[in-house]
Amino acid sequence: HIEDRINHLLGQMTLEEKIGQLNQPMIHGLPGLDLLRQGQAGSIINAFGALSGQGFDHLSSAEQCNALQKAALESRLGIPLLFGRDIIHGQRTVFPIPLAQAASFNPTLVETINRIAAREASAVGIRWTFAPMLDIARDARWGRIAEGYGEDPYLTSRMAEAAVRGFQGDDVSQPDRLVACAKHYVGYGAAEGGRDYEQAEISEPTLRDVYLPPFRAAVAAGAGTVMSAFLDLNGVPATANRRLLTDVLRGEWGFDGFVVSDWESVGELVQHGVAEDQAHAAALALRAGVDMDMVSGAYQTTLAENLHRGRITRAEIDEAVRRILRIKFRAGIFERPFTDPERAQRDILTHDARAFARQAARETMVLLKNEHNLLPLRDFRRILVAGPFAHATAELFGTWTMDGRAEDVTPLDRAFQEVAPAGVELWFAAAPDLAMSRAHYADAVVLLVGEHPARSGENANVSDLGLPPGQLEWITAMAAIGKPIVLVVFAGRPLAITRAVAQAQAVIYAWHPGIEGAAALAELLFGLAAPAGRLPVSMPRTTGQAPLYYNRKPTGRPLIADGPFRTRYVDTPTAPLFPFGYGLTYTRFSYSDLRLSSSRMRGALEVSALITNTGEQAGTEVVQLYVRDLVGSLTRPVRELKGFQRITLPPGAAQRVTFTLREEDLAFTRADGSWGAEPGRFKVWIAPHCEGGLEGEFEL
Ligand code: IFM
Repeated sequence: HIEDRINHLLGQMTLEEKIGQLNQPMIHGLPGLDLLRQGQAGSIINAFGALSGQGFDHLSSAEQCNALQKAALESRLGIPLLFGRDIIHGQRTVFPIPLAQAASFNPTLVETINRIAAREASAVGIRWTFAPMLDIARDARWGRIAEGYGEDPYLTSRMAEAAVRGFQGDDVSQPDRLVACAKHYVGYGAAEGGRDYEQAEISEPTLRDVYLPPFRAAVAAGAGTVMSAFLDLNGVPATANRRLLTDVLRGEWGFDGFVVSDWESVGELVQHGVAEDQAHAAALALRAGVDMDMVSGAYQTTLAENLHRGRITRAEIDEAVRRILRIKFRAGIFERPFTDPERAQRDILTHDARAFARQAARETMVLLKNEHNLLPLRDFRRILVAGPFAHATAELFGTWTMDGRAEDVTPLDRAFQEVAPAGVELWFAAAPDLAMSRAHYADAVVLLVGEHPARSGENANVSDLGLPPGQLEWITAMAAIGKPIVLVVFAGRPLAITRAVAQAQAVIYAWHPGIEGAAALAELLFGLAAPAGRLPVSMPRTTGQAPLYYNRKPTGRPLIADGPFRTRYVDTPTAPLFPFGYGLTYTRFSYSDLRLSSSRMRGALEVSALITNTGEQAGTEVVQLYVRDLVGSLTRPVRELKGFQRITLPPGAAQRVTFTLREEDLAFTRADGSWGAEPGRFKVWIAPHCEGGLEGEFEL
């Protein structure tokens, strides 16, 4: 039915109208507004982008979107516009950043966050989000690590599916849904030196086994669109990579939505040095499989000329238009082009959304250290809450929060006062001198440090993963006063906080936790809830360890105690400060009685262990399944995550946690380039993080 409607439209469209569909101009850029004024938009413009040269305040009200849409519908063919915006971790209700969401190890949480985000954004007329970001990030210097789900392909793939389900639901034509965009295809997180927009060299097996799986998962989950990355991957800019955009994405995976370029990345093929001029760039990108040009204008201005010169064919243009119209039809915007302006009142920043933002922040903070059970805070009468984040509001949002408002944030002082037990006196100090003088009279100090959201996100790369200047000095001075210190770190990346951690008795890694982050933190500190987050990234000791990730290939010279000529640094251990998957809570869990349903896998195998809450209170554990293929035709990672389950147990209770491991979970890109598992011996672990745990062995 949809295909018939597309054919019907294609039959009526002029070349100019077709080419127009392939563009996403800036909302204030040319030719967007001029065409709107002429009443032509919709026929010759496809989609409006989120950003404008003048700031972030466009496409943020139903009135704006509906007015633009009206102009589109009045154009010759009345083709509606698709409004896109970066709805990355909520619209007005700002949730924890995606990296924090990954720390929940809870795909249902990610799905719900994005369902709420979709409801809010669609209430103002947005029907397309440039999310989720699925770039595996092994180098925390890269600012965009904040926007993805960390270093692990399995965890990222599960979150990818959840995010797509959350945005699109079962039926993306519902007016409260957003079309998802899996980005940035592909390899963008591997930018050399952690510098955004730089090149990456990724071998074919690593590309297939590490970087591509999350995109494949998103496509299998039905993601309507994919964004090509800025980078030059192995000598071919991603926006001109026909093999990946067409052969793999469409040929191997069956993707039938549309591909949009990243911002100006079609035109940038000239700067990359693979295109002579804009026309050449446009031809390369279109032929590679980029259907929509975001902002560069190269399609708008040169595709007709390219056609006449024989560089591209009519069929190629028609195919790109077809894919874009397909998504517009699927999104239901032909049937319902306008949003109901009353929805904004009803659907944005609801009580439930706020409550869920608080739950999400609670589930994503990671307790890294808790000496002598300092947390939850009890028996302290005077507590000093100090540090650069002591009065934080919008600083808690994180990157890409175009619609969040500082006044919506539950402020720290109010949040703390609301949950602190009666009789506790709270003092707040954001200035060092005031904080130091007060610390002498306090019984305990909560020290709030970290990086400002502007220091993470797109192009906010750092060469030093330490805390921002001055903060370590502050911690050291505070520690010298001798009061127990709870260190809370707000950040968009795993920072190298080795010396800070050593000087604090308890440490919570709070990421950029969003609108209810302060309230969630207060609940954790005072024991109204217990931390449940686990690290979705390895936490470095020093910047020089980057790139740092757990699923490394084995070296011929692994580090063994005191061995000479082994892999190492002479000035720091090679191990992370805290490993992937790590996180504490207010109780303890023991792992025992690992069982395998068989010592030989025939198609599948069950692996289980008994998990016992050995502490004094209820708690949540993230039980993780890892494997290692001991001998392969290509070297295999020392461990790979293959499953996780979150369980909550009352004190003293035990639960057997069972994973089903299938042969396809052991598949990889083999020496001959084919995909599959290889017979042989495997190790398997059920573990609380990527190091240690109960170990077993089986054969395939
Ligand atoms: O979606 C983003 C992308 O991640 C980076 N460049 C701009 C796009 C649109 O805002």
